[in-house]
Amino acid sequence: MRRKLIAGNWKMNGLKAEGIALAKAVFEKCATTPDKTFDILVCPPMNVLGFVAELPHAGAFVGAQDVAETTKPNGAFTGDISAQMVLDLGATWTLVGHSERRQYHHETDAVVKQKALNAIGAGLTTVICIGETLAEREAGQAVDVVRRQTRECVPMQATAENCVIAYEPVWAIGTGKVPTTADVAEIHAAVRDELAKVLGQEKADKMRILYGGSVKPENAKELLNVENVDGALIGGASLKADSFWAIAETLM
Ligand code: 13P
Repeated sequence: MRRKLIAGNWKMNGLKAEGIALAKAVFEKCATTPDKTFDILVCPPMNVLGFVAELPHAGAFVGAQDVAETTKPNGAFTGDISAQMVLDLGATWTLVGHSERRQYHHETDAVVKQKALNAIGAGLTTVICIGETLAEREAGQAVDVVRRQTRECVPMQATAENCVIAYEPVWAIGTGKVPTTADVAEIHAAVRDELAKVLGQEKADKMRILYGGSVKPENAKELLNVENVDGALIGGASLKADSFWAIAETLM
């Protein structure tokens, strides 16, 4: 049985006091739910990552939203943060390949794979994000696109312990639009099938595949019940502890 994962991607939101308050509120809910049957991950922006990671957070994981592409742990890479630096802050996870990184920073599948390798190599658990654009969906290419991204972004070193996949259709992010449960099921099955080709069936069967894109308390139960959906990656609704937790609570 794959343990479900409820992950919050705060993106570029929150000044220091807000980020710390949000993290405290989420961690308090975790602490008062000791027997929960799912994992919780928060991915704050870099301005608060270290502060958040230093808060007591039993029952929750803390992650970054990105790591550097270079294999070097330090050096002349202005603006970058290495996986080793993330780990040093006390975070143990990171996202890589989010569609906003692909769109605004022109990250290719090869770059995403290198970042995943760096993260895994440094000892971070990595959420590799994939997903088709609206144009690709309308052209009937969604399955082909996510299969290609899975093949080209997931390194051979990935295991169910150090890697999670997040399927986020770009057109569903922040739009209030969600794919049908049949479409989600089709994509998640294709991703798992492609993972089996890259990593072998056993590893593929154990690896978690999250759905992301306009997940809200109102639609979470339905989405989280789709076959091969092993959790959610949440943007907007993760910025309030109540709505983030209400999504997790649909699993209780
Ligand atoms: P929203 O939940 O705001 O649609 O964002 C999804 C997302 O991009 C999470 O990484």
